Amino acid sequence: MRRKLVAGNWKMHGNLVENEQLLNAIVTSLDELRNAQFAVCVPFPYLPSVQSALKPTNIIWGAQNVSQYEKGAYTGEVSASMLNDFGCTFVIVGHSERRSLFGEDNHTVAQKYIAAQRAGLMPILCVGETLEQREAGTTEQIIKEQLAAVINVAGVESVGKAVIAYEPVWAIGTGKTASPQQAQDVHAFIRSGIEAQNINIARELTILYGGSVKANNASELFAMPDIDGGLIGGASLIADDFIAICRALSN
Ligand code: PGA
Repeated sequence: MRRKLVAGNWKMHGNLVENEQLLNAIVTSLDELRNAQFAVCVPFPYLPSVQSALKPTNIIWGAQNVSQYEKGAYTGEVSASMLNDFGCTFVIVGHSERRSLFGEDNHTVAQKYIAAQRAGLMPILCVGETLEQREAGTTEQIIKEQLAAVINVAGVESVGKAVIAYEPVWAIGTGKTASPQQAQDVHAFIRSGIEAQNINIARELTILYGGSVKANNASELFAMPDIDGGLIGGASLIADDFIAICRALSN
C-alpha cells in the first residue's frame, strides 16, 4: 500500500517554547487519525526535544538537510548518522531553497540522498521548476533531469526507500498553489518515469505536493490520484491549519 504522508517543513522557524506549544496542540488531534502518516521536519538543534515530545505519539520526525559526507573535517555540517542518533525517519534533500540560496546542484543533492539512505534515513527528495521554466514549457525536462541526477547514481531501486516531493518553486511561500490538475499532471509524469524503470516501485511510491498547501486547498489536491500527501511549509507552523491539512489526507 502506498504510504500517505503529510510532512511539515518548519524551515528556520520556532524556538523551544513555541515548538512545545505547537507540538502539544497537534499531538492530541493527530492521535485519532489512523490511515496516514504525519511528520515534522525541524531545525537541527530541536531534534532532541522534538524526539522526546513525539516518541510516545504517532507523529514521526526528521531534518531539513544533511551532509553528503559521512564524517570528517566539515565544519558546520551534520551527518546522516547524527540524525539517526535522534530517531529521525526523514530528511528533506534538494529543497529549492537549498538549491537556490545555498548552491546545491543536482550532483550534491544526489550525494546527500545517498548519504541519507546509507544511514537508513528516508530522503524526501524535492524537485520542481521555476516560473521561468514553466513558462518556457520545460517543466517536464527539468523534473526529469532532477530525478535522473539521483537515479543515475543511486539506482531506481533506491526510490523504493524514498519519498518524492513535487514543489514548483513559484508556489513555495508565495500563496500561489499549483492547481490540482497542474500538480496531478506533474505527479503522473514523475510516476510514469519511474514506472518505465520499475513498475512496482512506481506503484508504491509516495509523491507529495508542496507549495502553498493550506487548510482550504488541501482536500482538492489530495483528491488527485497521484498526489499522496503534502510537504507543508508556512501552514505547518499553525497548529489548526496543520491539523486540518492532516485531516484532509486521512479522510
Ligand atoms: P510553503 O512551503 O507551504 O510555505 O509554500 C513548502 C515548502 O517549502 O516545503
